[in-house]
Amino acid sequence: MAERDVSGAVAEPPAVPASELFSEERSAEVVAASFAGTRDARLRRVLTSLVRHLHDFIKDVELTDEEWAAAIEFLTATGRTCTETRQEFILLSDVLGASMLVETINNRAGDGTTESTVEGPFHVVASPRRELGASIAEDGRGTPCLVTGSVAGPDGRPVPGAEVDVWQADDEGFYDVQRPETKSDRNLRGLFTADGDGRFRFRSIVPRYYPIPADGPVGRLLAATSRHPNRPAHIHFEVSAPGYRTVTTHLFVAGTPYLDSDAVFGVKPSLVRDFPLVDDPVRAAQAGLPNPFRTVHFDVVLSPLDGDGGR
Ligand code: BEZ
Ligand code: FE
Repeated sequence: MAERDVSGAVAEPPAVPASELFSEERSAEVVAASFAGTRDARLRRVLTSLVRHLHDFIKDVELTDEEWAAAIEFLTATGRTCTETRQEFILLSDVLGASMLVETINNRAGDGTTESTVEGPFHVVASPRRELGASIAEDGRGTPCLVTGSVAGPDGRPVPGAEVDVWQADDEGFYDVQRPETKSDRNLRGLFTADGDGRFRFRSIVPRYYPIPADGPVGRLLAATSRHPNRPAHIHFEVSAPGYRTVTTHLFVAGTPYLDSDAVFGVKPSLVRDFPLVDDPVRAAQAGLPNPFRTVHFDVVLSPLDGDGGR
């Protein structure tokens, strides 16, 4: 029953300014205003921008009820696919290019410092520490390859003792952890300490391109959009040293398939290298590899943390 005031007249409900009510036109402003009391200024900014872009997107495509429900189902399935060892949300971020955009914004390379790229889901075990020159190819399968390189600052001064962590897929495009039946989570992984001149070297094999895990919701998204799941052949590097920003990056094999259509958009031209064939029994013997073998060289330039050369 309508309320009456003392004079018996029907009381009007308190007026709410139209500008504070949800409407199609003002949806983003009204929802953003609901976050106005957020004490953390950064959180307020992020949520306000998120709401603005989300509402713009929904209006742009005029999202239907069915599409909204399908999106909720997809995100729920993505969450259910996550386990201790599988992060389907990161994979989703990867195939949407969000991971690479965040990576690139937060690691703007300047001064010729080495560009970064995505870490990926296979850096899941600590790499075994190995001596310089050692082989990381424990099962010995694949095209032998000598990897050499150096670590320096932007001024060209070497970074002695830099830590060089590497991991890669095998000659069939699998990481060791994807083949647990081999019982090794050391194959094609290694942690090296650069020498007094900042140099490193190790023996390996040429990796093959491979598909990202495509048997879950992200794989369904790729299939529904006629996208392939493959990544071009690469070796992962994480290079660190006190006083420098750690760089997480790859070395891509020139000429590998999918260099121009990486499923996770991780390719940067500065990271592509030739792996030339060496047919020289003397050099092969020196390297401890069968002849012929491939070589690749990677000079890593680290960015100082304090901008003064790191020392
Ligand atoms: C990888 O290179 O290991 C990788 C990166 C992103 C998604 C899947 C795999
Ligand atoms: Fe990889």
